[in-house]
Amino acid sequence: MKILAIETSCDETAAAIVSKNPKENFGRVLSNIVASSLALHSKTGGIIPDIAAREQLKYIIPVVEKAIENLPSTKDGKLRIEDLDALAVTQGPGLIGSLLIGVETVKTLAYLWKKPIIPVNHLLAHIYANWLVTDTQKPKAIKFPALALLVSGGHTDLVVIKNHKNFKWLGGTRDDAAGEAFDKIGRLLNLPYPAGPIIESYALNGDEKSFSFPRPMIGSKDFDFSFSGLKAAVMREVKKIKKMDEKTKADIAASAQKSIVEVLVRKTIKAAKKYDVKSILLGGGVAANQKLRETFEKRIKEQIPIVKLFCPEKSLCTDNAAMIGAYAAFHPEKKSWNKITANPELYFD
Ligand code: KG4
Ligand code: ZN
Repeated sequence: MKILAIETSCDETAAAIVSKNPKENFGRVLSNIVASSLALHSKTGGIIPDIAAREQLKYIIPVVEKAIENLPSTKDGKLRIEDLDALAVTQGPGLIGSLLIGVETVKTLAYLWKKPIIPVNHLLAHIYANWLVTDTQKPKAIKFPALALLVSGGHTDLVVIKNHKNFKWLGGTRDDAAGEAFDKIGRLLNLPYPAGPIIESYALNGDEKSFSFPRPMIGSKDFDFSFSGLKAAVMREVKKIKKMDEKTKADIAASAQKSIVEVLVRKTIKAAKKYDVKSILLGGGVAANQKLRETFEKRIKEQIPIVKLFCPEKSLCTDNAAMIGAYAAFHPEKKSWNKITANPELYFD
């Protein structure tokens, strides 16, 4: 089946075409376009919902047009609108203004083109980026039961996946998400938004032992997380520093990143042992962090070597529409255009 997918939950406007053969255990990315209003938000230090929605309006049609134009020609010629089996769209969670642009655009296209719509949960879609195949991301042998760690700007969740129809949420953050912690610590260090990738590169020149920041809830019995205490601890240290030079910034970045990575890895491995999983899947923007990936590889090898780690290629960790198409291809529950509404509060069922 071939699906045109659209993602507009936050500040990225994205469209992609994903195909899936029923005999294959992956979705193939045929085209994948992402436009972002990030540059505007980096000036304000965070996302302003009204600006994000207005930018979505500007980009949505050009992005969809480009996703269709960019399709590779197959032996049967170029893909046409008639060849699409369905449209997929992020239903939630996200910013209501941004979500509405994607949902209402898809409803209009579905009405005009007489196509069904597959509504998709953005959180599950991040995890399904692991089931995508691109020119550089080959098919993966993901075995169930799997444990997914979703780490993005808005979420930090652990989910056990018994099969494609059975998801069990284990826990999530009680306050800031992991990505949000990176972003807020970045703001304290005067770094532009989103700070995650910048903190990662600063950390390369820093000493992760120079500051002993807390590792909140690392030993708690549940699978919940909390990162606001870490941000507060960084703030206290920053206030003590008279002149912030680049080396001190790098040391704070490395030490804070270490705290976040340690908590994520320790709790995930604990859950993997408890639920006896065969695979660990990472997803969401923070999953692009190389330190997180390497620490996972190392600890899994030491502690649970039969478990395999899977991470999407970095461009598929941050928001994109190919992941929306991937989830839709595995869950083709089609609805008519008049049955779809955006749901900013959507969570794991
Ligand atoms: O998944 P995503 O694109 O959007 C949401 O659904 O939230 O995640 C964005 C988040 C931001 O907080 C950003 O700082 C963080 O992911 N991020 C990273 C890295 N790349 C993006 N955090 C740490 N290291 C990175 N390399
Ligand atoms: Zn996301």
